[in-house]
Amino acid sequence: MNGQRTCHQETLVNISKQYKCDSVPPLLFSKLAYWQTNMFSICLNIVYRNNSHNFAKMKEEQKNNHKSPLRVLVFSASLRADSLNTRLAKLAAVVIERNGHKADVANMQEFDCPSYNQDADVDNIYPPGAEELRKRILANDAFIIASPEYNASMPGHLKNLIDWGSRFRPQPFNERHALLMSASPAMIGGNRGLWALRMPLEHLGADVYPNMFSLAMAHQAFTTEGKIADGTLANRFEANIIAFLNLVEAAKHYPLMKEAWVEYLGEKPDPVIDRVE
Ligand SMILES: Cc1cc2nc3c(=O)[nH]c(=O)nc-3n(C[C@H](O)[C@H](O)[C@H](O)COP(=O)(O)O)c2cc1C
Repeated sequence: MNGQRTCHQETLVNISKQYKCDSVPPLLFSKLAYWQTNMFSICLNIVYRNNSHNFAKMKEEQKNNHKSPLRVLVFSASLRADSLNTRLAKLAAVVIERNGHKADVANMQEFDCPSYNQDADVDNIYPPGAEELRKRILANDAFIIASPEYNASMPGHLKNLIDWGSRFRPQPFNERHALLMSASPAMIGGNRGLWALRMPLEHLGADVYPNMFSLAMAHQAFTTEGKIADGTLANRFEANIIAFLNLVEAAKHYPLMKEAWVEYLGEKPDPVIDRVE
């Protein structure tokens, strides 16, 4: 790495020297720089668990994992036959496969659930749609949702699915990596809906990627082959997915490094009030 390192980067370098592990992936440097500049009031603490007993085993796992492709669940949250978001989801799957990973493409019909009713939530019996989503989330390393925006929020059926999904134990969204995207004929591209969608996912412990992609004027944005017509936007779409995949890959293949997010609540840092996810 050229240039000046931040203290967190130095920490990573020291960790790698101290424990003689492979070089710290450049991706982690760039992500740290990104987080540091973009996520103010949040401190990122790198916590290394000195588990020398399992070090050889973990290193071997890392080595074996190194070239294994990621598996990414991709689905559109639209139930509509000619959905713009389904087109975007399909395009995301193409990018994933082109970069050597596996896309598990699903559609919203597979996950659709009756309205959540706490009276019906008994004996650990869940609607088949929620069971299917849970199964697919757990079978993949990450998930991508392309969601329509309805009335400046997410569609009700998607929130309903998340509510059902949140009832499983262990709760399947926890610590899963997620990337959000949207397509809309409007000028904002459905982006407000994604901010609404982030909230329950983050609440449930998902690592929602900071950059979201929203395709404005989506009814005119695709070529007849289903690609994004505008070259700049197409590049941004692809770069966003690749950056997300790199992060998921680093999290999967460098298990020695554990990250803890410490939310700064406006008081002096204090173990009593710090909320560590
Ligand atoms: C009930 C309803 C509410 C909508 N609200 C919004 C909105 O707030 N913002 C927006 O950009 N588009 C809104 N739309 C338009 C959708 O973005 C548009 O129908 C889009 O094509 C839906 O996504 P899909 O093609 O993937 O089904 C709304 C559509 C419906 C049916």
